[in-house]
Amino acid sequence: MRILLVLAWSFLVGADCLADPVASAEVDEPGRIRQLMIKVNDWQSAHPYQKPDRDCDWIRGTWYTGVMAAYRATGEQRFMDQALAWARAKDFAVGYEHSGSNRLFPADTWCELALLTGDDSMIKKVVAELNTPKDNTPAATRVWYLEEGVRYADSLFGLPVLAKLSRITGDSKYLAWMESFFFDVAYEIWDPEDHFFYRDKRFIGQRTANNKKVVWARGAGWAYAGMARTLAAISEDDIARPAYRRRCGWSLREMSNRSLLVGFLLTLCSTCWTLAQERQPVYVGARVCGSCHDGPGMGHQYSRWLLTKHARAYAVLAVPEAKKIAELSGIPQRPQESPVCLGCHATAAEAEPWERDPTFVLEDGVQ
Ligand code: HEC
Ligand code: HEC
Repeated sequence: MRILLVLAWSFLVGADCLADPVASAEVDEPGRIRQLMIKVNDWQSAHPYQKPDRDCDWIRGTWYTGVMAAYRATGEQRFMDQALAWARAKDFAVGYEHSGSNRLFPADTWCELALLTGDDSMIKKVVAELNTPKDNTPAATRVWYLEEGVRYADSLFGLPVLAKLSRITGDSKYLAWMESFFFDVAYEIWDPEDHFFYRDKRFIGQRTANNKKVVWARGAGWAYAGMARTLAAISEDDIARPAYRRRCGWSLREMSNRSLLVGFLLTLCSTCWTLAQERQPVYVGARVCGSCHDGPGMGHQYSRWLLTKHARAYAVLAVPEAKKIAELSGIPQRPQESPVCLGCHATAAEAEPWERDPTFVLEDGVQ
């Protein structure tokens, strides 16, 4: 992940900081990434690519998918306000385009807003549109996601909208539509040998002047960004999860050989992703539980726990018998430092420091 971030940074600032340890050390500071996201978005807002009469298409939709990801990652209200303003201006309708999937790109933002605010009316128009029989809706045709008659890689960017609609409406029909869309497109344009999507079937079998397969790097970026977001939108036990995951992209090595552009897209995604996972401690100390779970009303739970072997499980590793047990087990360290002993004798012994809340004390044993 650090390598990816360093790459992302060097792309973003256009400087060769790979060799500069100071610059790379700064990269994963969430504050700096946050500032950068705000700066980039402010610039884009001041210089919109699409003019107001065309600003509800794949271009604008993709930008706002990023705006919502930025909101989720940072909690900055300005991102939310910006997305809401755009959504209201477009009246939560599907995009202007004809291609069945592209016109769903803006709907990703409507879904995100509905999920965050709990206001399901935000997806009303999209639901109505998808359920109206037309040549580009699943209500009328099984293959509704084409562009000028062909299945295409970037259509997969729209895939997660269906997962989100299913989540919001509780209707599994959208998941079924999503699966048949995905498997149909993947069957036709996925190259299982080299693990990438062709732009569309016209490129299958073609060769470059250097006798290489004809890869459309930017399009692959769309597909991977779609697959990664699909994985985030479906439930953990979704049976199609492994199939989606397999189509998530090239390995880093393959990527550096093939296309820096894909790398660029992926690194941008992973920057947001890392930020989205801003580290939150997992373990609080037993004393925190004790602040409520004690006293007569709670049956003196904390005080009682203090008298149990669990509370002394770490301390007991210091007794002479412990040393003997460790020796017999062939453990070289002191028992209180041995991961083997600590695995049972202390909670969260293997957790990384950031996973522990300041209230957490390893010496408190099994808590
Ligand atoms: C802010 C107060 C508070 C804190 C802090 C707190 N709890 Fe609780 N906990 C409660 C209350 C209130 C109940 C419900 C008790 C009841 O229904 O009798 C409860 C219930 C429980 C139960 C279910 C007990 C049962 O009989 O079903 C468990 C287990 C539990 N807490 C564990 C913990 C642990 C572990 C921690 C610390 C990580 C913790 N609690 C921190 C207030 C708290
Ligand atoms: C698989 C879990 C596990 C591992 C690993 C483990 N222990 Fe224990 N150990 C326990 C349990 C459970 C008890 C409490 C048994 C009881 O009191 O009934 C215990 C008890 C003890 C006691 C006696 C405590 C007392 O109150 O008398 C000592 C000493 C001890 N362990 C040392 C070690 C050492 C040293 C290691 C590492 C070499 C180790 N243990 C690894 C589970 C484990």
